Amino acid sequence: MRKRKFRLMRRRIAAGNWKMNKKKAEALELANTLAQSSLPGDVDVILGVPSLYLEGVQNAVHGSTIQVAAQNCHQEDFGAYTGEISAPMLASINVAWVIIGHSERRQYFAEDNALLAKKVDKALEHNLRPIFCCGEPLNIREKGNHVDFVKTQLQESLFHLDVKSFGRLVIAYEPIWAIGTGVTASPEQAQDMHREIRSMITNQYDSTLSEAIQILYGGSVKPANARILFDQPDVDGGLVGGASLKSGDFLDIINA
Ligand code: 13P
Repeated sequence: MRKRKFRLMRRRIAAGNWKMNKKKAEALELANTLAQSSLPGDVDVILGVPSLYLEGVQNAVHGSTIQVAAQNCHQEDFGAYTGEISAPMLASINVAWVIIGHSERRQYFAEDNALLAKKVDKALEHNLRPIFCCGEPLNIREKGNHVDFVKTQLQESLFHLDVKSFGRLVIAYEPIWAIGTGVTASPEQAQDMHREIRSMITNQYDSTLSEAIQILYGGSVKPANARILFDQPDVDGGLVGGASLKSGDFLDIINA
């Protein structure tokens, strides 16, 4: 009964991560199509769009329940960081969410756990809600060290937060071997890791917090596998890459 009550407390999230895709007209067309579709009332839909299109997409989805996320922010407020975008800049255009720690940022832009801790702090300081990504590469999974690997990511980037700040986070578990590969974690693999993450949060904080935190699964989520993944008791929705670029596929996933 207790578990069920908590499960009902956690709203589902279907988040899209467009990554570095789409020209402006295509981006606005996708946003418009989604905004004009009938969306289930019990799912929060969030679009992680290229920062160049944040305001355009905000305008396109205005009047719908869709929310918008940035895909990254810098760890400083302002300064001589050519090409970067900061949390106060995002806040100044009323962006509510920011994806932090995506494995592509870690891999191609050398973002490590310590840096990501600073980004998380900066986002929270400016009242942005981080969607914090974690997840192991294939060789770590094959050695059976995936739980420890993710635990270190959370310890070094998140566990300095107080309970109130931690409660502002959404966590996305994205095993790197499943991202863009067409290989999805099995529902059991996703559920096992999500339950582990929840117990890490219980051990560090308490079960009230761990049962309230939304944990999304990401990595080759498609219309065909979304429902079985989202049916797992500790999976609260998805962070979707490729399949969020097509309105039909993303709507199917939202409805799953
Ligand atoms: P795919 O859904 O394309 O595998 O990407 C997942 C992802 O990286 C979402 O952030």
